[in-house]
Amino acid sequence: MYLADTNVISERRKDQRANKGVHAFFRQADDENRKIHLSVIAIAEVRRSIDLARYKGDEKQAFAHTHNCMSCHSITRDSLGPSFKRVAQRYAQTERANTLLARRIAEGGVGNWDVVPMPANTQITHD
Ligand code: HEC
Repeated sequence: MYLADTNVISERRKDQRANKGVHAFFRQADDENRKIHLSVIAIAEVRRSIDLARYKGDEKQAFAHTHNCMSCHSITRDSLGPSFKRVAQRYAQTERANTLLARRIAEGGVGNWDVVPMPANTQITHD
């Protein structure tokens, strides 16, 4: 049994252009009928790259998608929470808006928009 990391997977995807050693490794594992496993970390890394590619290198949008923000927010339309466009407009002139909003996102907020509160997003950290 082998545990392949993200680098090996990325290299293998290059197919004919991939490193010869990586090719040989996969061929040998196949010949010997050995299983190749992926760790959840490798899967998370691949998922993050896919999300980043999907949102064209837009780290913020990729972040919102991978952290479940989009189940209540949309970029342009109000849903359960205010649209991110409206949030951006409202805080465009606010000093230290990033610090204020980072705290609201982490701790949750209520009464700043409509009647619906935003629960604390405990899955995110301050950096
Ligand atoms: C369960 C639904 C829900 C989730 C999940 C959620 N939000 Fe919210 N969000 C809301 C609601 C509702 C409000 C309005 C709260 C209020 O009126 O104070 C809000 C408000 C906000 C605001 C404006 C805060 C303010 O004080 O003006 C920002 C910025 C924001 N959310 C970002 C995020 C981000 C980033 C995530 C993901 C980490 C996220 N939200 C996840 C429902 C949600």
